[in-house]
Amino acid sequence: MLRTNTCGELRISEVGKTVTLCGWVQTLRDKGGVVWIDLRDRYGVTQLIFEEGQASTELINLATSVGREFVISATGVVTERYSKNDKIPTGDIEIKVEKMEVLNKSKVPPFLIEDDTDGGEELRMKYRYLDLRRNPVSSKLKLRHKMLQATRSYLSNQDFMEVETPVLIKSTPEGARDFVVPSRVNQGEFYALPQSPQTFKQLLMVSGFDKYFQIVKCFRDEDLRADRQPEFTQIDCEMSFVTREDILNTFEGLVRFLFKEVKGIEVGEFVHMQYDDAMRLYGSDKPDVRFEMPFVEINSVAKGKGFGIFDQSELVVAICAKGCAEYTRKQLDALTDFVRKPQIGAKGLVYLKCNQDGTFKSSVDKFYSQEDLKQWAEAAGAEAGDLLLVLSGDTDHTRKAMNELRLEMGNQLGLRDDSVFKPLWIIDFPLLEWDEETQRYHAMHHPFTSPNKEDLKLLDIDPGAVKANAYDLVINGVEIGGGSIRIHDRETQALMFDHLGFTPEEAKAQFGFLMDAFEYGAPPHGGIAFGFDRLCALFGGSQSIRDYIAFPKNTSARDVMIDSPSMVSPDQLKELGIKLDK
Ligand code: AMO
Repeated sequence: MLRTNTCGELRISEVGKTVTLCGWVQTLRDKGGVVWIDLRDRYGVTQLIFEEGQASTELINLATSVGREFVISATGVVTERYSKNDKIPTGDIEIKVEKMEVLNKSKVPPFLIEDDTDGGEELRMKYRYLDLRRNPVSSKLKLRHKMLQATRSYLSNQDFMEVETPVLIKSTPEGARDFVVPSRVNQGEFYALPQSPQTFKQLLMVSGFDKYFQIVKCFRDEDLRADRQPEFTQIDCEMSFVTREDILNTFEGLVRFLFKEVKGIEVGEFVHMQYDDAMRLYGSDKPDVRFEMPFVEINSVAKGKGFGIFDQSELVVAICAKGCAEYTRKQLDALTDFVRKPQIGAKGLVYLKCNQDGTFKSSVDKFYSQEDLKQWAEAAGAEAGDLLLVLSGDTDHTRKAMNELRLEMGNQLGLRDDSVFKPLWIIDFPLLEWDEETQRYHAMHHPFTSPNKEDLKLLDIDPGAVKANAYDLVINGVEIGGGSIRIHDRETQALMFDHLGFTPEEAKAQFGFLMDAFEYGAPPHGGIAFGFDRLCALFGGSQSIRDYIAFPKNTSARDVMIDSPSMVSPDQLKELGIKLDK
């Protein structure tokens, strides 16, 4: 080893020891007669000191010749500091350097490699390897490492076996577009990168590996957001001979273990909520239940009083913002502007202030008496000092808009505390979802999800009403994981494909291998996959998963550091048998 210790390690108890440290020059201060260098590595920062009279002129000249981010090695004696720095763990000591070597020079970095940097996002991504030297960034990868180790250890101790599945596969219809890879050997044919190892893990159940997991890269060519990357990591799991409850309990165990092991937190109850209730009470299948503010449907008291907009609406729905009756005109206008934003899409916002003196003031006083408004307040459980915010329209859009407004109010009132974690299982999802664009039903989870047995009879008459044995884990409003009990017999699987609009030939061509496997003793099975990057971001208190990925893509799905995607040479294309129309 070129070093005896790391830069984060030495303490006052080591005074007198001769040590050698290696690292990067964080800062250099030359006070004429004394030179200090802060030397940094992954573990911390240690101060080096070069003093005239004690160090040779040559050594001092060498010390002052280095610049930021030079890589050096320094040998010297651990000494108690004259003026201590209680902000860093090594702040009581410094190294009186006797020998120093420049191991490599560095150009002036394009941005400050400090906690508060002057580098913008694009620049830092271009030089991601320098960004990763910064504490706030490297600490996120340390958290990720800890989570990876804890996950492996927990699942392995529970008898789950990690099995790797292929990366060059055939497309699985999970809702997003596939990334495809041309085959040179089989010209004109393509592999697809897995959106998830779904069918493989089911085949492993047929093989008898009754508890499988894999920490695995998945690829989806979809529009990017803060919580989506084109390549991301799942903790992918499957179990045989289990009920839904077994799966929920097992993976509640994993999540509890991670919170305890990585954050030292005992999380509270994992509430189970029906999908229909989540939509009715929060307008979302991933409600943030760190705060209450449930929806209250007030059709019965708000309609029929001559206010046309409400009268023509399918749904009139309110939320009660506690203690907000004092909101000013300006604040209410800002909320109205918020709900009118195109991405939220409400036409307007009605408010009702429950004044301290027992009177009511609303934006629709023309149509409603004090007695009418009192009924709204009572329906919503509002008290003096509270503010009701009301939206109306068709059910789906209104719920969606109200979900956004509720979250906004949660933000404004400081109710979404990053240090509080509220896990929630959403259960009993619909099996199918109507898609306006293609004018047909799609599997809401994926086509391998088992319908609720008692709903099977509805498949032909009311497909949208059929519930699936599917569940999501939601924490603080983020979908952390999702899974289901699977279909494990050929007939039901064929029936499912039929309802998804596959001809028997198409089903056979795409999924014949799975349906065949079901005929060789497929055990009942089910599973789940967690979005590992999302879990890390949640643990780290961040909205963006990008920070938790060493080399992420930007919002245009580009890696600006290696400049990818990129063109390939005409020779490569020719070899693959691909002609581009130019
Ligand atoms: P699903 O599609 O719900 O299920 O994915 C599981 C979890 O993966 C995370 N996730 C993502 N994270 C980052 N970027 C993305 N683009 C992205 N897409 C999904 C989410 C999500 O909950 N095969 C099934 C699982 C199963 O049934 O067992 C599947 O992939 O946190």
